[in-house]
Amino acid sequence: MLYNFDETIDRRHTGSLKWHYTDDTIALWVADMDFRAAQPIVNTIERVLQHGVLGYTKPTTALYQAIINWHGSRYGLALDKANILFSHGVVPSLALMLRVFTKVGDAVLVNDPIYAPFMSKVRDNGRQLILSPLREAEGRYQLDLADIEAKIAAHEVKLFLLCNPHNPGGRVWTVAELEALLEICKKYDVAIVSDEIHQDLTLSGHEFTPFLRLAKGYEHKVASLTSMTKTFNVAGVKGSMIFAKDKTLIEQISQQQRLSDEHDLNLFAYEVIRSAYEQGEEWLAQALTYIEANIDMACDFLEQHLPDIKIMRPEASYLIWLDCSAYAEDDQALYDKLRAAKVELSAGSQYGEEGHLKMRLNVACPKAVLIEGLNRMSKALQG
Ligand SMILES: Cc1ncc(COP(=O)(O)O)c(C=O)c1O
Repeated sequence: MLYNFDETIDRRHTGSLKWHYTDDTIALWVADMDFRAAQPIVNTIERVLQHGVLGYTKPTTALYQAIINWHGSRYGLALDKANILFSHGVVPSLALMLRVFTKVGDAVLVNDPIYAPFMSKVRDNGRQLILSPLREAEGRYQLDLADIEAKIAAHEVKLFLLCNPHNPGGRVWTVAELEALLEICKKYDVAIVSDEIHQDLTLSGHEFTPFLRLAKGYEHKVASLTSMTKTFNVAGVKGSMIFAKDKTLIEQISQQQRLSDEHDLNLFAYEVIRSAYEQGEEWLAQALTYIEANIDMACDFLEQHLPDIKIMRPEASYLIWLDCSAYAEDDQALYDKLRAAKVELSAGSQYGEEGHLKMRLNVACPKAVLIEGLNRMSKALQG
């Protein structure tokens, strides 16, 4: 079927996190899309509801198979049922992995800028947060491998939390980059947890590589985290997967989950995962085409109307990283200027030092909404 991504659906007064301002502010911030979910997913939820008995539920063989087929056929990641665990979310899993791989006081390395919970979960769990800045070259972020190695050695880092593809900035790390990182981690016996929640939103011209696919011989130190929620815009359903290949590691992760009985999902989440991976491909392909057109449009608009913004074009996902330093001197003032013009972006400062005077623009919305938001940005920053 053909989906209509131009449809504007009012999300105010629904408890939506993104549309929390109840005035006419345009929300172009937190990473969810303003699009209706794929019809097979909606049908699945209706079917489960109509059955009417909503009792304890466990993952079915068909669910495991849908996950295995999706990751095998799209990314060449060979999984079997024993490699898959479930978790309420990727962020809860990041916290869980801290407990699996480290002790209180241990050093954990993450890049800067980074999706904020990478930093807050490390700190909240009493681990030492070590940051390695990404380097910008030719308009995209690069890992600073020398800095990563030096910090691992200096702080006796135990765990590297990788964001693959990266948020913010949208880099899809190449095989060469991932292999170089893996070699360093192997050398110092550092575990790697790869957050791959943006994997399926990889844009044309780029190829996503699951970290676990490269980790042969080091699988006892590698886990990846992913979810159907970002891909299919069902974040409110909550649910995610943890993949690990090493039997002992899987047992250690399960053991940690059992401590607080965190391993099952609600029945809607199981069914949504299955229907998304079995029948969601058509929606996803159309959503990505729409998103790429919005990225083009936003970049063209900004180049024309706010030429001093430095744009980092994403290789994955719908979030454009904007260096607005030419238009403000202070992070709060930058956010407030936009807010006063009734358009909300994510303040770059929440993603670390490297996010200073940057903003993250979410373009996963109907074109008409995006155009209005861009016009407000232009007025706010030029005025
Ligand atoms: C890199 C990354 N990880 C995790 C999440 C959130 O995951 P969850 O909702 O499953 O906790 C996001 C959401 O924006 C994200 O960008």
